[in-house]
Amino acid sequence: MTIKVGDKIPSATLKTMTGDGPEDVSTDEFFKGRKVVLFGVPGAFTPGCSKQHLPGFVQSADAIKAKGVDAVACVAVNDVFVMGAWSEAQGAGGKVTLLADGSGVFARVLGLEFDLTERGLGVRSRRYAMVVDDGRVSTFHLEDGPGVSVSSVENLLNDL
Ligand code: BEZ
Repeated sequence: MTIKVGDKIPSATLKTMTGDGPEDVSTDEFFKGRKVVLFGVPGAFTPGCSKQHLPGFVQSADAIKAKGVDAVACVAVNDVFVMGAWSEAQGAGGKVTLLADGSGVFARVLGLEFDLTERGLGVRSRRYAMVVDDGRVSTFHLEDGPGVSVSSVENLLNDL
């Protein structure tokens, strides 16, 4: 089943790269008691994600936080080393937390798996953006096709 507005973010363990190396991120702890903008992408360094999706959120992170959001995070089915390198390449540090869903477990429990096997990428995540309030989804925009449309930062800002 696909996650929807009103649902609780499922318990899962993601990873993020820090100055001390990879660290686990419990979704229960990450979302608890605060407002988080989360967007999911098919893959770090892929053209749409690198040129269209992540840069807008990096540029607008301060404007998003000024509207009462505590954290902006991006999740992809990539390992934490790739996500760390992507964060550096995009200047995302301190603005957008890049979360690694290395084995795709989080995408699966959200019902948001995206099978890109035919394109040589394996099973990834669909593209989406949501606002999560104290662990519960309050707005959700899921892309139906290729490209960045409803999950854009411009659209997300309208939710806040
Ligand atoms: C992208 O442009 O973001 C993309 C391209 C191929 C597969 C997945 C994502």
